[in-house]
Amino acid sequence: ELCKGINGLDKVVLRESRGTSAEVYLYGGQVTSWKNDHGEELLFVSSKAIFKPPKAIRGGIPICFPQFGSHGSLEQHGFARNRQWSIDTDPLPFPTNSLSKAYVDLILRPSEEDLKIWAHSFEFRLRVALSPGGDLMLTSRIRNTSADGKPFTFTFAYHTYFSVSDISEVRIEGLETLDYLDNLQNKERFTEQGDAITFESEVDKIYLSTPTKIAIMDHEKKRTFVLRKDGLPDAVVWNTWDKKAKQMADFGDDEYKHMLCVEAAAVEKPITLKPGEEWKGRQELSAVPSSYCSGQ
Ligand code: BG6
Repeated sequence: ELCKGINGLDKVVLRESRGTSAEVYLYGGQVTSWKNDHGEELLFVSSKAIFKPPKAIRGGIPICFPQFGSHGSLEQHGFARNRQWSIDTDPLPFPTNSLSKAYVDLILRPSEEDLKIWAHSFEFRLRVALSPGGDLMLTSRIRNTSADGKPFTFTFAYHTYFSVSDISEVRIEGLETLDYLDNLQNKERFTEQGDAITFESEVDKIYLSTPTKIAIMDHEKKRTFVLRKDGLPDAVVWNTWDKKAKQMADFGDDEYKHMLCVEAAAVEKPITLKPGEEWKGRQELSAVPSSYCSGQ
């Protein structure tokens, strides 16, 4: 269902028979809502988010492509998150999502202007799907369509903003003891020590070569998000905490308490595609009551 969202921007609403839903803006190809069968919002979107080009929407799942963060010469997080995507009327088959009936296929191709800042032609196909159980599945297929015979290289992230009740009560399992690059310390490499990850100050880390499953436990909500990924070796973890929150115009001063970014990503080892080659990267999210997870 294609309809108008905030400021008249086009959005697609996906509904699954058990009552779960998701919303995807064509601006940015960005998921901005994912609700469970009780109608509870599972993603964070700032109350100050600006739904207006050229600013990227603060929250949901921005797509970072062809560059993650400041790891390159392009604008922060690349340009895909502030471009107008189209509905893909001629999608390639996405075999692994075939069970889902609630999905949308989007496509992004570079404009003439884009080719001036990144001289590579590509087709970026994004499928956003809700599984019959309400899991949110994002699959990206990026193809090098250049005629000039040149390969291109990119980094990538599904910049996922989870909605949490209280950041101080949240922990992440699946990243302990891993190496990470710390964006707050000149991207230097460290090794995580000790137990599950908890939060008491600003965090901006890129965990390297992580397991394919990461759990985000929200004790107060008694909810666990499970993030599964494929083709995306790294995982970014980000929370502004209070000081940085105050510096951001499109983010409320206290909103850091209610959000946590955990992002399936490919950052440390950029991906190279020769002409005609395709890369695929998937992120699947489920939200389960914590009691179901005990003993794991
Ligand atoms: C995170 C980065 O993924 O995104 C942070 O690791 C960055 O360094 C954050 O601050 C938000 O970026 P932006 O461009 O959306 O403000």
